[in-house]
Amino acid sequence: MDVRIFQTPEETARALAARVAEAIQRKPDLVLGLPTGKSPVATYAELQRLHARREVDFSGVRTFNLDEFAGVGASHPGSFRRFMDDHLFGGVNLPPANIQFLNGAADDLDAECARYEASIDAAGGIDLMLLGIGGNGHVGFNEPGDELAARTHRVLLHEVTRRDNAALFGGEIGRVPREALSMGLGTILRSAAIVLVATGQRKAACVQRMIRGPLTTHLPASFLQTHRHVEVFLDQAAAAQLV
Ligand code: GLP
Repeated sequence: MDVRIFQTPEETARALAARVAEAIQRKPDLVLGLPTGKSPVATYAELQRLHARREVDFSGVRTFNLDEFAGVGASHPGSFRRFMDDHLFGGVNLPPANIQFLNGAADDLDAECARYEASIDAAGGIDLMLLGIGGNGHVGFNEPGDELAARTHRVLLHEVTRRDNAALFGGEIGRVPREALSMGLGTILRSAAIVLVATGQRKAACVQRMIRGPLTTHLPASFLQTHRHVEVFLDQAAAAQLV
């Protein structure tokens, strides 16, 4: 893994936004995989600034988000789709038709997962997959456990993950859906290149295990070690346990 350590979260975000902008300049029809969570928010804000300065053009870019809550439609205020509208899509010139999302409100969630997997294949796969890492080592919503799913699938969320996401649902864990849809580890690992961002001391132990630890389903992010093109953008706090 190519590990890059920056002084502050702001510097990390600027470097990651520049990395994404450069990929779009090189390939204007880039297929970009996107995460939610607090980790990418500053990067998304920086991408909006670069766009406002006409330094990045999203008009040919296609995006696939990693995951969505089950039972939650695109217009629900707690949806990841709404989060992306607020933090990125609303401030760049990405054509709405180029935005792909799992529909958490679909009648048949298994069919929705199969549809999503097929549409990633039809786009030629993901060129650049951005990732965050959950406090328990999850990527997307691939939760730690005895087994992991390869493809886009339904997943039961862990209590800690529901708590971490409660802010999207008015701070009430009881309102966070128990189930979600997520790209699988295999879906993620089929991407041509992967960049994971983590900031803050809360992520330091997971980051250390992800990079230096053994491959284990109990830390889904550890499987990124099997991919040839992974970059990890960290601030000093998240990198603190690496030495
Ligand atoms: C959610 C998302 C993940 C994200 C994680 C970390 O669970 N499904 O894709 O990586 O949160 O969130 P944060 O960046 O807020 O720590």
